Amino acid sequence: MNCKMKRIVIVGATSGIGMEVAKMFLQNNYQVGIAGRRKERLDILKNEFPENCFTEVIDVTQVSATENLLKLIEQLGGMDVFFLSSGIGNQNMTLNPEIELATANTNATGFIRMTTAAFNYFSHNCGGQIAVISSIAGTKGLGAAPAYSATKRMQNIYIDALEQQAKMRKLNICFTDIRPGFVETDLLKYGKYPLLMKPKKVAKSIFWAVVKKKRRIIIDWRYKILVFFWKMIPNCLWKSLSIASQVQ
Ligand SMILES: NC(=O)c1ccc[n+]([C@@H]2O[C@H](COP(=O)([O-])OP(=O)(O)OC[C@H]3O[C@@H](n4cnc5c(N)ncnc54)[C@H](OP(=O)(O)O)[C@@H]3O)[C@@H](O)[C@H]2O)c1
Repeated sequence: MNCKMKRIVIVGATSGIGMEVAKMFLQNNYQVGIAGRRKERLDILKNEFPENCFTEVIDVTQVSATENLLKLIEQLGGMDVFFLSSGIGNQNMTLNPEIELATANTNATGFIRMTTAAFNYFSHNCGGQIAVISSIAGTKGLGAAPAYSATKRMQNIYIDALEQQAKMRKLNICFTDIRPGFVETDLLKYGKYPLLMKPKKVAKSIFWAVVKKKRRIIIDWRYKILVFFWKMIPNCLWKSLSIASQVQ
């Protein structure tokens, strides 16, 4: 392996935004380790980029995910950037507990499992970068998707906490929290959404945010404006709004 090539691990690279981000890094000659549950999807990318693509099946809800992540890092000969795209989300206006708990299991437990594994790896290996896709959905609690919006807020706060811990322990780890608006992926396949963005275009913005080590980005500019005003809505007014039924 060429030692000058940077090595990135992308978990959640089998579809949507994660897959497009993986393609961007593969096309830019990074050594890329990709993971997700669907092996056949991983193999398609591996066949397209046999030289610099490495694969491992990882289910973030399973305890074995940590060990499998380490196996993927070993295949790459080390890791410079850890990128987490895995996530699920559903609207849940009947408050089906199974949907809520499955969302928490992937977006909260799975998220913590993967980011702590990456953090601990970097703490023993001279540091690195942890980048995650959270969402603008964590801006306020969404009545139509309680677990989704709550877990996305948790992801934002968890990264803030890891950053502080890294500083307290004088570890050379930096963080990138990516917050997209609506993107046309499988996650949104049920329902109609306004201001939809193409995954390829979003992946391009994400690629540069990671390369430039941005701390936090909202994609795109329209959502930046929306979030700015959204944050200012007082809770006494927010609770009476029903606009959230279209928000993912
Ligand atoms: N689409 C949007 O509008 C939007 C907006 C803001 C944020 N996001 C966030 O962007 C991220 C990517 O979503 P997407 O829109 O690209 O949807 P997607 O096409 O459904 O991709 C989701 C990815 O997560 C992986 N995943 C799900 N459960 C997993 C598990 N248990 N273990 C490992 N990987 C798992 C999937 O892989 P496998 O099924 O193969 O495991 C897939 O690669 C998510 O975190 C989502 O919340 C999306």
